Amino acid sequence: ETKVIKINDLYNDSIEYACNILRKGGLVAFPTETVYGLGALALNPDAVRRIFEVKGRPQDNPLIVHLSSLGQLESVAYLEPRYLNIIKKLTPGPVTFVLKKKKNIPLVVTAGLDTVGVRIPAHPVAQRLSQCAGPIAAPSANLSGRPSPTDAKSVIEDLYGRVECIIDAGESAFGIESTIIDLTKEKPLVLRPGPVTIEELNEIFGEFGGVEYYVPKSNEKPLAPGMKYRHYAPEKNLSLVEKDKISDYANKDVLILCTRETYEKYLKGAKNVHIIGEFGKPYTIAQNLYKSLRFVDKSSYPEAIIEKLPEEGIFFSIMNRIKKAVSKQ
Ligand code: TXA
Ligand code: MG
Repeated sequence: ETKVIKINDLYNDSIEYACNILRKGGLVAFPTETVYGLGALALNPDAVRRIFEVKGRPQDNPLIVHLSSLGQLESVAYLEPRYLNIIKKLTPGPVTFVLKKKKNIPLVVTAGLDTVGVRIPAHPVAQRLSQCAGPIAAPSANLSGRPSPTDAKSVIEDLYGRVECIIDAGESAFGIESTIIDLTKEKPLVLRPGPVTIEELNEIFGEFGGVEYYVPKSNEKPLAPGMKYRHYAPEKNLSLVEKDKISDYANKDVLILCTRETYEKYLKGAKNVHIIGEFGKPYTIAQNLYKSLRFVDKSSYPEAIIEKLPEEGIFFSIMNRIKKAVSKQ
């Protein structure tokens, strides 16, 4: 039986209830400012193993450990002294750092790696939960391969009946997963683009010559093991279409996912449109993206297309997810 808790005036009681479930080795889905996470106590290998079972997650895909403070972070990973000021600047927030792990983190969390992904979320519920329970290992709270959940309804769709508790705190602010930066290499290496953009990171890591962006070569094992798996994809066929070709699909038996601006300019009056946000406010697109991808399978249309966006700033992170969603493998 899954208990769904709405975060409201019973705030303290709710956190305590969820914290107790974690302490007993149970699973709690909780909000962060990126997407919802599916948490277990990071130091309890049996509890962590259940995360993999419940999600159908491949064993070789490591989990991110969520913490409430730098002090807590230092209990599980070695802080890179040369990056300390930057880590302070970027936390709490939508960023995950890959660092050398300490011994107490079970290998099931890191899928056997000697590094661990650590994140201090800014969301008050995530903060308070790890304050109460300690380090929490959590992937996104979706079934493996599905779009990450950005609200409790999406978590319920995927995990109701499979976990002990789901905390509902409304919609995630960013809507796409954290930026992952590997700090164990010579140069900071971005493994996954996210809410904090490459451009911003180049500025922030300026004194180190900026960041490198990791592109896995087709013949090598990717540094972020999760990158090799199919992601975010609807069941139905989804393809990418250039803005100026999109009017070809007006009122066809295809769902069109596009920005408000594209709708106004190329598709005005068409019935088969689902707006994914505003081109002029790209963070709204990030926020709606996964819900829109989930909507593809809920709609009555047999297939869907999505507008191709530019690949700079936050659009780069958004397109990273869209490209995975349209990819067939
Ligand atoms: O925003 C987020 O990051 C969300 C929220 C819940 O924090 N979490 C999330 O987790 O997106 P997940 O499991 O869906 O993605 C974690 C990614 C995977 O691609 C995994 O391979 C990578 O992080 N990762 C984790 N630990 C790693 C490590 N030690 N080295 C390299 N990549 C790692
Ligand atoms: Mg995920």
